Amino acid sequence: MKFLISAGPTREKIDPVRFITNFSSGRMGYAIANAASCLGHEVTLVSGPVTLPEPENVRTIHVESAAEMAAAIHANAPDADVIIMAAAVADYRPANPETHKMKKMPGELVLKLERTEDILASLGKNKRADQILVGFAAETDDLEQNALGKLQRKNLDWIAANWVADGFGTDTNALLLLCRDGRKVILPSAEKAVLAGKMLDTILS
Ligand code: CTP
Repeated sequence: MKFLISAGPTREKIDPVRFITNFSSGRMGYAIANAASCLGHEVTLVSGPVTLPEPENVRTIHVESAAEMAAAIHANAPDADVIIMAAAVADYRPANPETHKMKKMPGELVLKLERTEDILASLGKNKRADQILVGFAAETDDLEQNALGKLQRKNLDWIAANWVADGFGTDTNALLLLCRDGRKVILPSAEKAVLAGKMLDTILS
């Protein structure tokens, strides 16, 4: 099957030397790309800026911003059988990024932010009936309720939910997998490589 996987954070420019980003390491998305490739699937990985080695036998497309990630995902989505959005895409970007380095001024600085495209929601709207669409939900509160809301709102087949405290930047993670048909699978804390294999087993079952 053809897999399209996103991983890592995005960077949203404030000026030529500054950006807004998040703590995503990309490890979970890269582990899923590796696991899918080892199972013999054809994998395209769209990666934000990370410090991980490129997975073998995977076509990796490097992007920086949410807009670049959206373009790369939309270009490859029509062909994909399974799409897994593991990237921590910025929800907002500076509305007016400066072309010159900003100089400090006395007093406060207020940055105006605008929404980025919700890539996963767009994919959900245009989903083929035979396509499997999987999202992630990193939460600090009401894990199951928030994840279920995202599964329904974004028209997903599966959502992988994790507590932020357990997941960001670490080698291990625990996941709660929720399916649109009501199935609920708990994957206890494990190395992300192990977890990725178990997650694919569940989704492909
Ligand atoms: N996502 C995306 N595009 C965005 C933001 C998020 O495709 N601009 C995807 C992520 O890759 C992830 C899922 O959406 O698979 C969950 O993202 P999240 O930002 O937590 O969901 P929201 O519905 O935006 O909810 P909230 O910000 O209220 O938690």
